[in-house]
Parts: sequence; structure tokens; C-alpha cells
Amino acid sequence: MTGTHPAPAAVVTGLGRCLPETVVTNDDLSRHLDTDHAWILSRTGIERRRRVAPGTGTGDLAVAAGAAALKSAGREDCDLVLLATTTPDLRCPATAPTVASRLGLGAAAFDLSAVCSGFVYGLTAAAAMITAGTCERALVIGADVYSSIVDPADRGTAVVFGDGAGAVVLERGRRDAPGALLHAELGSDGTGADLITIPADGTHLTMRGREVYTRAVTTMTESARSVARGAGWSTDDIDAFVGHQANLRILASVAKRLGLPPERVVSNIAEVGNTAAASIPLALADAAAAGRIRAGDRVLLTAFGGGLTWGSTALVWPDTEAVCDVRR
Ligand code: COA
Repeated sequence: MTGTHPAPAAVVTGLGRCLPETVVTNDDLSRHLDTDHAWILSRTGIERRRRVAPGTGTGDLAVAAGAAALKSAGREDCDLVLLATTTPDLRCPATAPTVASRLGLGAAAFDLSAVCSGFVYGLTAAAAMITAGTCERALVIGADVYSSIVDPADRGTAVVFGDGAGAVVLERGRRDAPGALLHAELGSDGTGADLITIPADGTHLTMRGREVYTRAVTTMTESARSVARGAGWSTDDIDAFVGHQANLRILASVAKRLGLPPERVVSNIAEVGNTAAASIPLALADAAAAGRIRAGDRVLLTAFGGGLTWGSTALVWPDTEAVCDVRR
């Protein structure tokens, strides 16, 4: 029989973040790089970003953000830890099992590498595992320490990226519950693999910024539009558009194409820069903490990044308080 029990869904019940304490302003960067505050602000919308102290890695930020998300959900355990990152602590093994152990969790744990789309990929994968019955409750973390892979002498990337982590708790629940993930779509185009890359013989990230920019605007717009439609929304129904925080001008262009007024676009890029896999959960946590998104809001998440990869998720925002944490 169908109809008596609504299909199970993955529901967001907790949200946390972690930012390193050290703030790097545009003026700080201009002291050793041929750039200036006015250029960075006008071309990207970034005013400052955070950087980890020596000895702090992705796992440290992920543990803090994960603990904050569990606290926000009022939970102490989960049976899946999924860490989206391109800057794992080690090449092998994955960082997620160590994060799980440090949180005292005997959970399945794995890393997921989809660059700046990693969090939306992770959310979608964890939701599928929950609805399939593989796990009951998942901690999905996006954490990256791009200061470890960016060339400090490359003004095209050094000004853009920052370090950070954000996390959500996803639980098995009902599709009509606030926080339920309603629809998601993912995509990739490997013909653009060389646009954002760390070559096998290199240590630093390279990015063909202008080309990525153009691809990001068109792809994010299409992905957002398609997922809104899949959720049964018109783009006008979107209360908060939370796009990957790569560049404020990209977010403005996408919003304009979607017909969304600026007040429906969530952005914290001025404060944190592009934090890669952490970008969307950090933007969510900041927006929730500031009351910028509220329970009942229709929220659309759209990511785009290296691979090329992209993805979007639609959900109605739950009554969840973000727990914030800062570490050295
Ligand atoms: N300060 C001053 N000048 C800079 C600079 C900086 N930090 N970085 C680049 N420039 C210069 C370039 O050398 C170039 O000079 P030229 O015209 O004399 O050759 C000029 O500014 C324009 O460079 P360009 O790379 O075309 O700038 P841009 O407007 O595209 O901005 C990015 C560069 C990286 C900010 C932008 O391309 C971007 O945000 N790209 C998308 C990134 C993205 O979406 N990533 C998603 C996955 S992470």
C-alpha cells in the first residue's frame, strides 16, 4: 500500500561552523603581492579571509564544526561521517575516520572529493544513504584549508581563498518535516578538468579564473532553475539563494538571471572569501545565526567547482540554531 506512510526523507536537524581565528585582510595581502584592496573588493567582493595557524589542519576544523553541528541538533552520536574536502590531512587514509574517532563516534566514515561542490555532493550522497536505510543519522562536513595548496605568490588565487569548515546533521524523517531535503541534482563535465587543478607534479592550485567565472554563471543558473522546478517551486518562491561563495559578482549575475532580488541572496564572502567545500555550510551557518534565514524559508543551495562539478539542493529551513565555534 502506498499513501499511508510518506516516503522517508533526510532532514537537516543541526548546523555548525568553525573558522580559524587569524584574519587576513586585503591590505595584509597587498604588502607582499602586486594587488590592492580596491581591486580585490571590486572584482570579488572579498574584504578578508581566515587562515589556520601552523599545525592546524582540515581535520581540526572538521572536528570543531562537526561537534558544533551535533550540539545544535542536540545529538551525541551518528552512524555516518562524510567529510567533503580537497585538502585531507593525509593522502591516505581519508580524514573522516579520524574526525569520527575524535568526536567519539563509531560511525562509517569517508572523504568525498568534489572540490567546491563537495558539500552539496556530500549532502546528496548522505541523504540517499539515509533514505535507502543504510544509516539513520549523518554528519556531513565541508572543510578545507586552501592556505595549504594556494601559491602565496599567485595573485589570481591567493586573494580568493580562505580556510574554514561547516557541518550539518541529517536524520531520517518525513518529507513534510521542516529541514527535509526536497530535491537535488548533481552534474559534472570533466572536459573542464584543467581549469582548476593541482598537477600531479605540482603542489599548488592553478585556476583559469576568467573561464571558470563564465562557466560558473551559466551552470549555476541552470542547476538552480532545474532544482527549483524539481522541488515544485518557481524561482520566485526562493526565499534564500545560498550559492557557492566564489565571487560576489558570480552570485549577483546568477541571481539576476534567476530574477531574484539582492535581499534573497545569502553571502558572507566579504568576511571569509572562497572556502571551497566549507563555503555553503558556512554561509548557511552565518545566515542562520544572523536571522537572515528563518524557519520555514525556502532555501536553494547551488554549488560549482573544480572537476568541473556542480549541484543544487532545495529544502525548507528547519527551526535550528547554528552553533558557532572559533579555534586558533
Ligand atoms: N590584483 C590585481 N590584479 C589582478 C589580480 C589581483 N589579485 N588578479 C588578477 N589581476 C589582473 C590580471 O593579471 C589581469 O591583468 P591584465 O588584464 O593586465 O592581464 C586582470 O587583472 C584581469 O584578470 P582576470 O583573471 O581576467 O580577472 P577577473 O576579473 O576574472 O578576476 C577572479 C579573477 C579569479 C577573481 C575571477 O576570475 C573569479 O572569481 N573566477 C571564478 C572563480 C570561481 O568561480 N571558482 C569556482 C570554483 S572555486
